[in-house]
Amino acid sequence: MGQPHILILGPPGAGKGTQSGNIAEEYGIEHVTTGDALRGNKDMDISDMDTEYDTPRAYMEAGDLVPDAVVNAIVEEALSAADGFVLDGYPRNLEQAEELSGMTDIDVVLSLEVSREELVDRLSGRRVCDGCGANFHVEFDQPAEEGICDGCGGELEQREDDRPEAVENRLDVFDENTTPVIEQYQDHEGFVAIDGEQPPAEVWGAIDSAVRERANVSE
Ligand code: AP5
Repeated sequence: MGQPHILILGPPGAGKGTQSGNIAEEYGIEHVTTGDALRGNKDMDISDMDTEYDTPRAYMEAGDLVPDAVVNAIVEEALSAADGFVLDGYPRNLEQAEELSGMTDIDVVLSLEVSREELVDRLSGRRVCDGCGANFHVEFDQPAEEGICDGCGGELEQREDDRPEAVENRLDVFDENTTPVIEQYQDHEGFVAIDGEQPPAEVWGAIDSAVRERANVSE
């Protein structure tokens, strides 16, 4: 077996980005994230794909899904360049899950479970560095100096889609589109549900044990 192929699923704010960073660093694999890829290309011209809007920005700021054709192309390119990976933010509907099954095999499926109330608290308090993209939280993970990134000294800002109306919509979009994907992956032999409501270090401990049991990772 080569490097592990890991899928991390869960609602907005469940900690997918936080834990994917740990996974990528620990096992030396790529972190493939559709959210970051789209945020880096918010104003990309997608008008030739016959979409409702001409750029990803309008979908993302409302908390809606960007059209499948755009996201499928991003993931296909990223996975073809990666040996091992942790895939974060995809698939988000059954059509994307079908597309992924034609691209690659998956060894481990991690499903982070967190209550809606906790998700709203996490997302509304999240602050993101405009320089390096690091995540902080106004209550759970404060920087040493208010509004300033501990890592690079960049300014901390609120993501457009972390404002209250967009957060509620993102959670509804997840319930409607992505919950059926998770139900489908429950039959996968590498599926494991993780209690994402524990402190970050404990979530990481549960993930690390689950991955080591299910995939051939180097010590
Ligand atoms: P994306 O960037 O993927 O956003 P998301 O899924 O909504 O996830 P988040 O990044 O908000 O949360 P997360 O689970 O990574 O949590 P995090 O670790 O940051 O997608 C954004 C948009 O892009 C979508 O709405 C859509 O428009 C578009 N898009 C992306 N993929 C797409 C696709 N496949 N198809 C179509 N459109 C797509 O943690 C959140 C906060 O909680 C942080 O402040 C963190 O510090 C804190 N935290 C984390 N863990 C814990 C813990 N254990 N305890 C306490 N606090 C914690």
